[in-house]
Amino acid sequence: MLKVMSVFGTRPEAIKMAPVVAELQRRGPQVHSVVCVTAQHREMLDQVLGVFGIQPDHDLDLMRPNQSLPELTSRVLLETTRVLREARPDVVLVQGDTTTAMAAALAAFYERIPVGHVEAGLRTNDRYYPFPEEINRRLIGPIATFHFAPTERAMAALRANGVPEDDLFLTGNTVVDALQRITGSVQAPVMPYPAPGRRLVLVTAHRRENFGEPMARVFSAIRRLSAAFADVEFVYPVHPNPNVAAAAREALGATERVHLIPPLDYVAFTHLLAKCHLVLTDSGGVQEEAPALGKPALVLRNETERPEGVEAGVALLVGTDEERIVAEASLLLSDGEAYRRMSQSRSLYGDGNAASRIVEILIERVATVSQERDAA
Ligand code: UD1
Ligand code: UDP
Repeated sequence: MLKVMSVFGTRPEAIKMAPVVAELQRRGPQVHSVVCVTAQHREMLDQVLGVFGIQPDHDLDLMRPNQSLPELTSRVLLETTRVLREARPDVVLVQGDTTTAMAAALAAFYERIPVGHVEAGLRTNDRYYPFPEEINRRLIGPIATFHFAPTERAMAALRANGVPEDDLFLTGNTVVDALQRITGSVQAPVMPYPAPGRRLVLVTAHRRENFGEPMARVFSAIRRLSAAFADVEFVYPVHPNPNVAAAAREALGATERVHLIPPLDYVAFTHLLAKCHLVLTDSGGVQEEAPALGKPALVLRNETERPEGVEAGVALLVGTDEERIVAEASLLLSDGEAYRRMSQSRSLYGDGNAASRIVEILIERVATVSQERDAA
């Protein structure tokens, strides 16, 4: 029996690992699935666990208010090591580029346990952007044995990093699996937004490199857009990071038709995404979901590791320049032809079968890799 431990800790990792965990469970008794959550995020992780019905076998409960990167990294490294020693899985799966993913991969390597990297190969090639994620994902590269790349571009980046062809797998992004599962099977919740006759702009913003001035400029742009378009409502589920929440409250708390709300669960959020007119976001996952639902995304970043949407003309990098955000959003809100060009539904990041590909590959490959390691 193949014992696979999935380690994740934040909201986006949980959403993107949920289809993999479901597929691993479906393959029982051939596969024994063990779930270890670091709870790098607490409330936002629990929302996802609830939506997808995942009950972790190990919950490290590591989140602390306003945690620093070194503190969190040390805790993840130490605590996942303890669980790995106890559970001795044949392979560890990590996802993306968070502190949890990077430190758990390192812990597995120290225990000589092979690592599979889900969503491998995303790069901006700028070490500080996004910070610290660009370096986190690059560090997982040489540790991982199995690289599950979402797109051809990610495959090319991994090849350029010297990953052997045999260890590279084009799977698509599991976020599409998650999105299809939720939008296809769960009853849409009743949401009070937007009011009848109004259009909805959905906003998310949380990146570390946007804290302070850049985020203030984004908020200022939203205030101006709200004043200019009386038929538009803005819904912004605010990330609970104190650096974000306090700034959002201060800048937008009293702005008409701007709704600052707590993080939505995945069902409610994807429902609003499907209903909205356009999305303003610095999120990675939302850049992948918006084109799948045919929603134009104005990306509040200067660079992206997901250029496929920009190249397809359905996402636009607007950075955090106030004038640029106001100009591009105004165009989409007032020019029907410009809006139509950007609101094409496109499958750029996957076909919804990434999780089954990943599990199939693990079943085929892990036994060989473990034998090679034991012989070494
Ligand atoms: C983390 C990831 C980032 C990812 C983001 C998704 C790292 C370095 N960063 O950033 O890649 O895009 O998650 O949202 O791994 N908090 C709560 N409740 C929660 C979650 C967070 O109160 O459910 C607050 C806590 O005060 C916590 C702080 O937010 O200390 C920061 O959380 P952390 O995971 O360190 O950073 P994020 O900015 O969320
Ligand atoms: N999301 C959610 N509720 C919200 C906001 C976002 O469920 O209120 C989902 C969104 O659909 C996407 C993921 O969270 O799948 C993105 O997470 P986040 O923006 O926190 O992280 P990133 O993708 O930037 O790493």
